[in-house]
Amino acid sequence: MLTRRAFAGRIGMAAAASRLLPEMAYAQRAAVKAGMAGDMVWLNANENPAGPPPVSLAAMQQVLPTSGRYHYQEFGEIYATIANSEELKPEQIVAGCGSSEVLHTSVDIFTSPTRPLISVTPAYEGPIELARALGHPVVLTKLRDDYTADVKKLAEEADKAKGGMIYLCNPNNPTAAMVKSSEIDWLVANLPANTILLVDEAYIHFGESPEIKSAIPYVRQGKNVIVTRTFSKIYGMAGLRVGFAAAKPEYIEKLHPLQINVIPIVSARAVTAALADKDNLIRERRAVLAKTRRELCGWLHERGVKYIEPHANFMMIDCGRNAREFINTMPKLGVAPGRPFPPLDNMLRVTIGTDAEMAKFRDVFWKVYKG
Ligand SMILES: Cc1ncc(COP(=O)(O)O)c(C=O)c1O
Repeated sequence: MLTRRAFAGRIGMAAAASRLLPEMAYAQRAAVKAGMAGDMVWLNANENPAGPPPVSLAAMQQVLPTSGRYHYQEFGEIYATIANSEELKPEQIVAGCGSSEVLHTSVDIFTSPTRPLISVTPAYEGPIELARALGHPVVLTKLRDDYTADVKKLAEEADKAKGGMIYLCNPNNPTAAMVKSSEIDWLVANLPANTILLVDEAYIHFGESPEIKSAIPYVRQGKNVIVTRTFSKIYGMAGLRVGFAAAKPEYIEKLHPLQINVIPIVSARAVTAALADKDNLIRERRAVLAKTRRELCGWLHERGVKYIEPHANFMMIDCGRNAREFINTMPKLGVAPGRPFPPLDNMLRVTIGTDAEMAKFRDVFWKVYKG
């Protein structure tokens, strides 16, 4: 029987643990509060200004009148479509309301009081905060001088702990640095006993380098690897809340019972419509984003402002002084940049928006930079 104190403790823990927040919630919690301009340029949550593609908008409009039903009977096919899009079998994926949900269940199941979450600092806070809220140990390793993850250190820590879950975001949020495929290969080949590698590929489609590759082939090979993906970023569907985890069936079976919901039918139809033209959509959107990103890099370079080489739809700019001044002042001038990311206190994270939005960003950033 539970004592009253233990029961209260469990409730508190459950409440805290249910807060695996997506980017927007972190952004709101961080910086952007009162006195916001109506025409604010939002470059704080790594969203895609393109939004859902026209085929998805049409599919959503079509299904809306029937959204009074759950549509349970369609979900087998919907999940199979998502799995097929990555040459996986349905039993190798579990879909969730955003990748937040499958990250949450993965941390919940594959870390424990004796199995730490092992990652880098800074990394995306969601899984780290959840592990802490659950009372599971968290081990964070330092980035290398070029801001990339040190995969050997991650393996060493997992070995020291006699197993755990390594959380590696590729490209990393907030640095936008990539982990080269050769390093992922090394990590998979050298995973210590009792260790799972979770690669969060929320931003993988924005990378142009031939050295960045998905870890999904390792899932197909049945390795101890989980890959999470989201439709929030390149697909422009952050508000529709769809993501999935890919892993061997043995892991997926463990994740399934923790899923809270089916994804909404409207969102599911948006996803399946987009997947029908996946390769073109990704290629086109990546090209548009990369052009805007290159222009910003060029502009910064011309002015001698340093930045971390970006491989995502955001980048980190070295302000040369504490970035909080930019984070606090820029929203008052109509541009909302990312939140602070200690220990990189001088770095400002900015999402790549449209060309017009980035013109405004440059203007406002430069005003603050010049002081
Ligand atoms: C690295 C990373 N993973 C996962 C997520 C969760 O996103 P979503 O729940 O919208 O899929 C985010 C949100 O921005 C993120 O930056």
